[in-house]
Amino acid sequence: MFKLFVIYLSAVTVRGSDQNFNLKQDWWETAVIYQIYVRSFMDSDGDGIGDIAGVTSRLDHLKEIGADAAWLSPIFKSPMNDFGFDVADYYTIEPHYGTIEDFDQLLKKASELNIKIILDFVPNHTSNESEWFIKSSNRDEYYNDWYIWANGHIDCDGNKLPPNNWISLFGNSSWSYMPNRDQFYLHQFGKAQPDLNFRSPVVVDEIKSIIKFWLETGVAGMRINAVNLIFETDKDNFGGTYPDEPKSGNLHSSSNSYNYLDHIYTKDQDETYELVSQFREVFDAISIRDNLTRVMMTDACTNIKNAVKYYGEGVQSGAHVPFNFALIEVLDKGSDWDARDIKYAIDRWMTYKPLMKQANWMIGNQDKSRLASRVRPDLVDAFNMLVLLLPGVAITYMGEEIGMINGAVPWSNTKDPLACNTDDPVKYIEVSRDPARTPFQWSSGKNAGFSTAHKTWLPVANGYKNINVDSQRSAARSHYKVYRTLTKLRSRTAFREGRYESHALHPDVFAFKRWYKHDTYIVVMNFGKTYRIVNLTAFDLIFGQLEVEASSVLSSRTYSDNVPSDYLDLAADEALVLRMQV
Ligand code: NOJ
Repeated sequence: MFKLFVIYLSAVTVRGSDQNFNLKQDWWETAVIYQIYVRSFMDSDGDGIGDIAGVTSRLDHLKEIGADAAWLSPIFKSPMNDFGFDVADYYTIEPHYGTIEDFDQLLKKASELNIKIILDFVPNHTSNESEWFIKSSNRDEYYNDWYIWANGHIDCDGNKLPPNNWISLFGNSSWSYMPNRDQFYLHQFGKAQPDLNFRSPVVVDEIKSIIKFWLETGVAGMRINAVNLIFETDKDNFGGTYPDEPKSGNLHSSSNSYNYLDHIYTKDQDETYELVSQFREVFDAISIRDNLTRVMMTDACTNIKNAVKYYGEGVQSGAHVPFNFALIEVLDKGSDWDARDIKYAIDRWMTYKPLMKQANWMIGNQDKSRLASRVRPDLVDAFNMLVLLLPGVAITYMGEEIGMINGAVPWSNTKDPLACNTDDPVKYIEVSRDPARTPFQWSSGKNAGFSTAHKTWLPVANGYKNINVDSQRSAARSHYKVYRTLTKLRSRTAFREGRYESHALHPDVFAFKRWYKHDTYIVVMNFGKTYRIVNLTAFDLIFGQLEVEASSVLSSRTYSDNVPSDYLDLAADEALVLRMQV
């Protein structure tokens, strides 16, 4: 027993800001996960829509930038009301995206390149064209309670009114009426996305079978979409009816918008975490069988305390990667943020996260305005330094490596259901997610090299002549080159396993230190629009000259330049990775 205890103690080392076991890191723990919005990545057959064969043809790009895994937006059969987030058949590949043979080919090529494939999975809701929903709406005995059905009310004019005041994330009532069943169904997103009923054990079993089915094809993981919306309150606790939600008191929300209500009955329900741990068991069973960890990533837009519950609590395992939207939330503040907010957001996640678990970082996705547009192009490198050099998993939304900006998508071309639902040719732009979904920019050629089609499903963003992979690969300095340098740096032990400490040296300047034994780095970035002089000796054991390992595109410093640690003048938007000389 004593001997075992000694072995246990000597296996403990200090890593990240945590105490961790000095075990070999698993493949995903410091992975760069590259998010591909398949519809916009690469079109292989000239129909103006990206597809799976297109992804396969461009896996070399992922290899070159140092990505370890590709996470694909939903590829299952869908009428595309919400572009794949409305699945009609979870066992079939969407024909516009290809066939199961194309998918096998993708897995084969990815495995040759040692790139893992992660699938997006949408369990909260299906498409209203799913056979399950059609059967349920016809009261088929087996599927009868697969969705959330409820009786409405009848007003004095005989109109049918929804069961309660719940509002969908896409605006307006989250209930729609189905005449053949003479009941309302719940949809927390669009009308075409009915919510499944996870209080039915048959539904839970079916969803677990689907996870198992795809993990068995050899994919390395899944991202579980909108996981905190899976359960609604148990109506049996309210006499068999769903209660109204209280008003949020948010004065900026109109009465038909999601933020108008406080969603105490439709999100973050306690039952969710147990279900997630059941999902995790499916992941673990296959991981153990194949000796390859299948990674579960969870997507939950919620407060920090709920967000970190997805890591698992007590004996219940949770997700490997519960999405951390902390940096995105800072950017959501518009221009009202500075280096102190960045430091605080990072510290907050590191503080709430269970000690032994991995953090993860991202600055964008298919739902958010692109960083180069919401902040400014000159800060692209600084933010990529954050994502790639903070401890843990890095998640890059396609295009961030070249600093893509939002596309200009006019009302006449708008496809996003969230924007279309506004029915407002002016205000749609405030919510439209299309600008972040425009075609990937490969070259300065036709359709930015994305497609040979006459017209692409969304227009290519302006500026693609300069912002594209080809130009940035051949330029002496570019976001692309900085990104590649950063992923290479990331393979050093100091970034993979090293400790972390940070300072907001000035309201505009954020800096962090990563170190492992004597290998020490300072990453420093000026978010301000004027130059700042900072003293990096505020960090323990930093002194003398520091050597430049990487610098933002507009920096006057280049690789191997020396800078003084106690008097560093940083230009506006300048970001540097510096190494302590030993
Ligand atoms: C979250 C996804 O990120 C978003 O794109 C989608 O519209 C909704 N879930 C609905 O599934």
